[in-house]
Amino acid sequence: MSNYEDLILYFEDQLDKIQYNNRPIELYDPIKYTLGFGGKRIRPVTTLMGCELFSSNYKKALPQAIAIELFHNFTLIHDDIMDDAPIRRGKETVFKKWNSNIAILSGDTLFALAYQYAQQADNVILKDILSVFNQTAIEVCEGQQFDLNYETKDSVSVDEYINMIRLKTGVLFGASLKIGALIGGASTSDADLLYDFGVNIGLGFQLKDDLLDTFGNEIVFGKKNGGDIVSNKKTYLYIKALESAIDSDRNILLKHYKSSELQSDSKIKLIKDMFIKLKVDIAASEVIDGFFNLGIESLDKINLPSKRKIQLMEVAVKMIDRNK
Ligand code: IPE
Ligand code: IPE
Ligand code: MG
Ligand code: MG
Ligand code: MG
Repeated sequence: MSNYEDLILYFEDQLDKIQYNNRPIELYDPIKYTLGFGGKRIRPVTTLMGCELFSSNYKKALPQAIAIELFHNFTLIHDDIMDDAPIRRGKETVFKKWNSNIAILSGDTLFALAYQYAQQADNVILKDILSVFNQTAIEVCEGQQFDLNYETKDSVSVDEYINMIRLKTGVLFGASLKIGALIGGASTSDADLLYDFGVNIGLGFQLKDDLLDTFGNEIVFGKKNGGDIVSNKKTYLYIKALESAIDSDRNILLKHYKSSELQSDSKIKLIKDMFIKLKVDIAASEVIDGFFNLGIESLDKINLPSKRKIQLMEVAVKMIDRNK
């Protein structure tokens, strides 16, 4: 099995080789800017790994790995408009650097480019690949809409939150792996087990993202601290805090989380202190571990010797034990 770092280098090298049209520059400059300033590249690398689990040649899955990364970057450009986020990967977001119309169009273009790569597969598996891709694209939009709906909904349950992050984040990790597996020649049941592994690890990944949004180091994480609090996002941290607070704290949370009465920095500090007091960061870490274990259970069931699966296990650890 190829080493994770080597796969990243290979993938980045190939991504750099993509030739985009030049004009209009207002459309293509933001695309080059977005793809050129990093990102962890976890999803496309898992596509290559999913393929290599079942085949000797991970390069067969390169077009789909590129498709996944282009799709992911499309979601980020649009997500930053929706979340009014100024910084991503330590740089100005596309809609801040240019404007929202440019961010919408360059995102749309990335979405279509993603399909150009996704469709580069043998006819025998093309339909299956596109069907996973389509289903995933629809679900990500559903998740994003729930996420936005919940900003103004007072009561969101843990189940609603988990379903929302499954859609907005989990399924893309599942699809990245499953598409790789299908290209590698996996059986449907193994490809589905890998999908379940990806979805569960993806749930842990999003919970960790929510933790880092509030408690991470802004410079390392590359996104503005406290964005979820300012946007009134119904994260696990908030839902759990409401659930565990005594009445007086609960009233403070209810009053201030949805209100823009306080300046952003004061709101972030107040809520963050409350989260720490109620130990919801610890509760979130326990839930992350639970999803990690569920993911590993699916990985274990795949019909391959365990030593072939070690690398994916390591990726799962990286996705959860991270600070960026
Ligand atoms: C960000 O994903 C979006 C989430 C699902 C939290 P990543 O953290 O993988 O983003 P990059 O590509 O590495 O910047
Ligand atoms: C990410 O959710 C989901 C998608 C981009 C589809 P977030 O809004 O938490 O992602 P970040 O934190 O902006 O990367
Ligand atoms: Mg968002
Ligand atoms: Mg966001
Ligand atoms: Mg986030």
